[in-house]
Amino acid sequence: MLLQGMAKSRPIFVCQNCGAITNRWQGRCDSCQDWNSIVEENPRLPPGVAKPGRGRPFDLEGLAGEGPAAPRLRTGIEEFDRVTGGGFVHGSVTLLGGEPGIGKSTLLIQACAELARRGSRVIYISGEEAVAQVRLRAGRLALADAPVELASATQVEDILATCSNGKRAALIVIDSIQTMHTESVDSAPGTVTQVRASAQALLRHGKSTGSSIMLVGHVTKDGQVAGPRVVEHMVDAVLSFEGDGAHHFRMLRASKNRFGPTGEIGVFEMTGLGLAQVPNPSALFLAGRDADAPGAAVLAGMEGQRPMLIEIQALVAPSSLGTPRRAVVGFDSNRLAMILAVLEAHGGLKLGAHDVYLNVAGGMRADEPAADLAAAAALISSLTGAPLPPTQVYFGEIGLSGAVRPVIHAGARLKEAGKLGFNRAVLSQGQQLNDEDKGAGVAPHQIADVAALVAEIAQAAPRRRGR
Ligand code: TYD
Ligand code: MG
Repeated sequence: MLLQGMAKSRPIFVCQNCGAITNRWQGRCDSCQDWNSIVEENPRLPPGVAKPGRGRPFDLEGLAGEGPAAPRLRTGIEEFDRVTGGGFVHGSVTLLGGEPGIGKSTLLIQACAELARRGSRVIYISGEEAVAQVRLRAGRLALADAPVELASATQVEDILATCSNGKRAALIVIDSIQTMHTESVDSAPGTVTQVRASAQALLRHGKSTGSSIMLVGHVTKDGQVAGPRVVEHMVDAVLSFEGDGAHHFRMLRASKNRFGPTGEIGVFEMTGLGLAQVPNPSALFLAGRDADAPGAAVLAGMEGQRPMLIEIQALVAPSSLGTPRRAVVGFDSNRLAMILAVLEAHGGLKLGAHDVYLNVAGGMRADEPAADLAAAAALISSLTGAPLPPTQVYFGEIGLSGAVRPVIHAGARLKEAGKLGFNRAVLSQGQQLNDEDKGAGVAPHQIADVAALVAEIAQAAPRRRGR
């Protein structure tokens, strides 16, 4: 009804951050409070939109019933296929988000080359790089022989006309959606309206031809796919490619997937020859660990559905400052503050005059509550100078009362620890373990609270430094 009431020639003003629409220009968006984000756009309504009462009824169906199993297009890159739920579904549209320079184009050209080598028609359209640049990269990755069809283009109608020529493409990569523009709307390239209309045109092409479409989207600092959050609603799957510029590993995860689970992650390492798969990430994250030094604890963590062992390092040192420093890398600073408070209140530790640093090794993030116990163990170990047993892992949530609480996926955590040669796990007394969990070769040591953890670690402390 909003559309009907609006005079067709009248411009609208769209916030490029959140997509809110206003009737006049303003310096600040009322909806998301962002400054200078509102841009004038001319909507051109598709013909027929405003004519009510012309619909034809259709049949409604029940939930149960036969449907063909969705055929999948596997790239052959295991870590990639795991995240998409076993390959792209034909005709599906996937958005791959990530910060500039993280390796999106590299990952996709590698996937395209794999597919093309196995006989699928694959089209790679770059709106950002010239064909020569893409070729140069492919050459460096030793993929130049793969029969991928390349072009540098930004005009959606031209792209679709090109893709409709010849055999149906199995996969069309659009790098990136922000550089695309379509004739169907007047707005400038890069605006919400353009991005949305371009994505819609590509989506229609995918659904009507059965070609899978992969859209690359740049992500802003705070992790949103820049501007067009709108695209996320339209596509079938949203993947994000993450990593830390200073480290070589990259993680691919699904935040939305209409055809598969969202908990899966894929791990890659950026090498001189492109992205290499990391089938055993725990081993990578624990490589180079100094197991005999105090202040390091191994967390038996989970990334989505996948168990992963991560080292948490703490440094607790007497402070020369009036207000001691607390610094974290890869850990939540509020959680650290809470753990320190609980260790003081219920563990009998004095930390008020100490600087505290907490670091998650390898550039990882330990965001789950299960990391509390490993962080606490690392802190106690650093304060007392007592190294933790090198073949021991920790997982458990710490409550404000000092109690150690159970967490999910205990079985998977124990199994992963066993696989990597760990033989003892410290966890909550309340954690229910079945026979299979106990059979992982990792002896569970179940504790009730942080006082028990402090007592156990202090036992091994060197006399003089024990506090
Ligand atoms: P790129 O795929 O262009 O990132 P995006 O498309 O996400 O912006 O990759 C960018 C970085 O990856 C670049 O800074 C160099 C690095 N890189 C390697 O380290 N090794 C390689 O083999 C390639 C191709 C890139
Ligand atoms: Mg790129």
